[in-house]
Amino acid sequence: MKKDFISIKDLSISEINEIFALAVKLKKNKAKFSTVLQGKTLCLIFHKPSLRTRVSFEVGIVELGGNAIYLQEDIRVGKREALKDMAKTLSRYVDGIVLRTFEHNNVVELAGQASIPVINGLSDLLHPCQALSDLFTVKEKLGKLKGIKLAYVGDGNNVCHSLLYGASKLGVDIAVATPKGYEPQAGIVNEAKEFAAKSGASIIINNAPQKVAKGADIIYTDVWTSMGQEKEREKRKEIFANFQINKELVNLAKKKVLIMHCLPAHRGEEITDEVMDSDNSIVFDQAENRLHVQKAILIKLLGDKK
Ligand code: CP
Ligand code: NVA
Repeated sequence: MKKDFISIKDLSISEINEIFALAVKLKKNKAKFSTVLQGKTLCLIFHKPSLRTRVSFEVGIVELGGNAIYLQEDIRVGKREALKDMAKTLSRYVDGIVLRTFEHNNVVELAGQASIPVINGLSDLLHPCQALSDLFTVKEKLGKLKGIKLAYVGDGNNVCHSLLYGASKLGVDIAVATPKGYEPQAGIVNEAKEFAAKSGASIIINNAPQKVAKGADIIYTDVWTSMGQEKEREKRKEIFANFQINKELVNLAKKKVLIMHCLPAHRGEEITDEVMDSDNSIVFDQAENRLHVQKAILIKLLGDKK
């Protein structure tokens, strides 16, 4: 594996499969791995709020025998001191960094300057830990990934981008419906299409939630207003009104459709209470699997290389 985990696009299919296989073992037998990262310290630098990412990484490193330091920086990266100075200093103290930030380039630059592994804990562009765990969850629930029909309904945001990379690499047929003007970035869609050409996945991007939901195995959604876009919330509520995951939309999918959401959810906006709390919803299994998959990533990146 590369030194850092910044994007799913950087992982080979065999690396993804190795992470998934290790995550299965970690989930089955937590005690067996309780000292594999003994003495290692993971530093979490977060410029945005977090429940799942923060807690799952902190608990994850501790369950592997290491320690976590959480820095909620009021000062944006590169303002108090140059990013490269921060990267070089931290490289002398800790064994890995998880960065949650706004500009994606902050993650890229930190990784370039640090001699230790850097993990993308969400940027405006990507949320790779989320999408990788989610695909692990799909495989766990449905027993396979190839040929599964995943409908993503909502904003073409960071989570959508990472799902596009992961699905296209692993052969999941992904259909994305967003309002006009909120589609995933064309560059990412094109890269995903290249991966899909190799895996056999299909990629559809349109503005028709009913069309993508039809016959889907999975319906996935995320908030309409991501962190950092709060000023647009009222405008987005109007624009996205027809992109809600509600009973009518779910009824178009397969009977056993699984409902996914990375959380936090804005209940009553992108998803109704009824759907979120239904038997088809696997949102908390998704949240749990962040822990197991991220522990596998930590072992791969911070563990002693043999
Ligand atoms: N899904 C996710 O990353 O949640 P947090 O923002 O709470 O970390
Ligand atoms: N798209 C959301 C994901 C939160 C985990 C955001 O960036 O706020």
